[in-house]
Amino acid sequence: MFSFQLLSALSSAAVLVSAAPAGPAPPFGGDECCSTAGAVMNLPANQTQLVSPTTAPLYVAVGVGIQNYTCAASTLKYTSTGAVASLFDISCLDKTSAFATIQTTAFDAWNAAPAGISPNTLGAKFGASTLLGYHYFIPSPSGTGISPKWDFTSTGKNAGNSSAFIVAAKAGDITDPTGNVAVNVDWLTLNNTQGSLASKVFRIDTVNGQPPSSCVAGSADISVKYTAKYFLY
Ligand SMILES: *[C@@H]1O[C@H](CO)[C@@H](O)[C@H](O)[C@H]1NC(C)=O
Ligand SMILES: *[C@@H]1O[C@H](CO)[C@@H](O)[C@H](O)[C@H]1NC(C)=O
Ligand SMILES: *[C@@H]1O[C@H](CO)[C@@H](O)[C@H](O)[C@H]1NC(C)=O
Ligand SMILES: *[C@@H]1O[C@H](CO)[C@@H](O)[C@H](O)[C@H]1NC(C)=O
Repeated sequence: MFSFQLLSALSSAAVLVSAAPAGPAPPFGGDECCSTAGAVMNLPANQTQLVSPTTAPLYVAVGVGIQNYTCAASTLKYTSTGAVASLFDISCLDKTSAFATIQTTAFDAWNAAPAGISPNTLGAKFGASTLLGYHYFIPSPSGTGISPKWDFTSTGKNAGNSSAFIVAAKAGDITDPTGNVAVNVDWLTLNNTQGSLASKVFRIDTVNGQPPSSCVAGSADISVKYTAKYFLY
């Protein structure tokens, strides 16, 4: 734990080095407002797909956004075409009772938000007003398909840092262990393929995001609201 003396020494140092970027005082290395040392993922025990690293996460976030789907004419099932989400810092909530259910609190706010409201404006409604960055998809560096990216290059203390992103590839996947597999998107672990923000990303504690189980030929593309916790290591 940081003592108040150390904290005040650090903030004096930040004042002296006045080139320090605007944003929360930087006692913790990352862009997080509080230490992530005690933040642990609550993973189901009966599986080997998602294995928690033994180090503390670099970032702990709640993601608020949409999953996009298109109707595949060959199967009449919706297939994923990517996602877009805003990621809010929840490092300061991790020792509070709000942490366990923050994804549900965030989803309720998001689900109630009128059309046209950006997720960016919602963090303050669920006690997580610091925007860490964005999650979206880019053409895959491999040349085939799309790849998920977590991009902190335009927000907070990382603003202007062109390496503060991670592009990743799925390395593990379990269906929602709470049993709502048709409603909540899978829990995932992904490995870094590009960028220096983190080496691994976990998506857990998902709320909503699944498409309807089938579609009719010619259905329009759809976007389904979701939230999840993201742990970056
Ligand atoms: C997802 O769909 C929304 C419209 O609902 C669109 O604005 C956004 O660009 C789409 N993103 C991706 C990655 O397909
Ligand atoms: C992901 O990274 C871990 C090491 O952290 C490695 O053991 C695993 O094989 C990787 N998975 C894939 C699919 O690359
Ligand atoms: C693992 O446990 C969860 C509950 O934690 C349960 O919903 C799920 O069906 C179990 N999966 C397997 C493969 O046993
Ligand atoms: C830029 O971001 C990367 C990834 O988070 C980090 O390793 C690096 O130290 C940052 N550079 C600066 C100048 O802050």
